[in-house]
Amino acid sequence: MARRRIDLLVHDAAQVVTVDAGGPGPARGAAAMNDLRVVEGGAVAVGRGRVVAVGPSEALAEAFAPRTRLDAAGCAVLPGFVDAHTHPVFARWRDDEFARRCRGETYEQILAAGGGILASAKVLGATAVDVLVEHLRRVFDHVLLHGTTTLEAKSGYGLSTEAELKSLQALRLAAEGAPISVVPTFLGAHAVPAEHAHDRAGYVREVVREMIPLVARGRLATFCDVFCERGAFTPRETATILRAAARHGLRGKVHADEFGDSGGAALAARLRATSAEHLGGTGPAGIRAMARAGVVPVLLPTTSVFLRLERKPAARAMVEAGCPVALATDFNPGSSPTANLALTAALGVTMLGLTPEEVVTAVTRNAAAAVGASARAGRIAVGRPADLVVLDAPSYVHLSYRMGTNLVRDVVRGGEVVVRDARRTPAREGGRGPRPGTRTRAR
Ligand code: NIG
Ligand code: FE
Repeated sequence: MARRRIDLLVHDAAQVVTVDAGGPGPARGAAAMNDLRVVEGGAVAVGRGRVVAVGPSEALAEAFAPRTRLDAAGCAVLPGFVDAHTHPVFARWRDDEFARRCRGETYEQILAAGGGILASAKVLGATAVDVLVEHLRRVFDHVLLHGTTTLEAKSGYGLSTEAELKSLQALRLAAEGAPISVVPTFLGAHAVPAEHAHDRAGYVREVVREMIPLVARGRLATFCDVFCERGAFTPRETATILRAAARHGLRGKVHADEFGDSGGAALAARLRATSAEHLGGTGPAGIRAMARAGVVPVLLPTTSVFLRLERKPAARAMVEAGCPVALATDFNPGSSPTANLALTAALGVTMLGLTPEEVVTAVTRNAAAAVGASARAGRIAVGRPADLVVLDAPSYVHLSYRMGTNLVRDVVRGGEVVVRDARRTPAREGGRGPRPGTRTRAR
């Protein structure tokens, strides 16, 4: 029988981890989150950017004639990772504040004194859009080398109509032709800017009446997020903003209960937000509310470590309650300067008590649900876009076991090999070609 021509065969993998039990949508509860559907000795056939078949390597080698092969012997193949919570649109690192915190100042004290998010906003306001675009392209290459093929990216260091729109426009420009999928989130309500310190209501009005309509009209974001926290926005202000966003077709996310239980998770449930994020302080009532409403809890363990937060998210209780728990890096210059999702997965196990299987689900399938991308990302399934990560390790367990190590050897995105042997591929192989240096450079 003639073998069917396809574009790519990823073959002889020690494991193909499909994370595809039970079809689309997130995995809720421990049984579902632990069911990874592993094909030992597996292969993935890819044609026209999509998965054509998944199965035993020998059978697929007989059935298909691939134009390109990727030998995954001794490797685990996973779905491309989805980083469901990042703040990459910044113009300067904040290593100075890190050093201050190491000497005893707290994150909240620094923010209250005009540092933190406000310091980032000051620099971003004076930064040209093309500088932001170049920075973002470097970030995209950097996260890709760590296996992330779908990236949620928030604005939020603008804090004025002009600078928030500039941030989202930079994201759009950088995302065009990028080797990853970007899900933009408008986070104008990240902090009350200095010039509105005595007129909070005025800033909330600007977010609601100016920013949200312009963001929606320009189709610049999929989601609207609010930092609901002491020192940032109250639950009431959060509700006002997210209701306005919903009227303009933007789906909701909430930065909730980062420092304490301020009712943020329950609020996210009441507002039918897609996700609630951070959740270090969330108690049983908030967890029950999220489970009932189907809100995706997005937990950010690197932030807890980096800010030395005492209260850790009750990840196990969330899983047991039936919540589709996701994990993300929170990549940003203030509270989590890493974009290494494997480190997040490792902390998900050692710090939050999740299993190696649950954290794989949490950075793929459930993270896809958190960004509204269940239909195209987070699983290896026939007919879905071929976003794959090949780990230089024989089992998915290594993802959380080899703490902080980047094990990503190859990345396939939309059927194209965009990372090979831990390097960006030249354009003819599908990549746009490596930039001079792939470090994330910000001033
Ligand atoms: O998710 N919590 C609010 N926002 C970010 C921190 C942003 C910053 O410090 O620059 C976070 O941790
Ligand atoms: Fe955040």
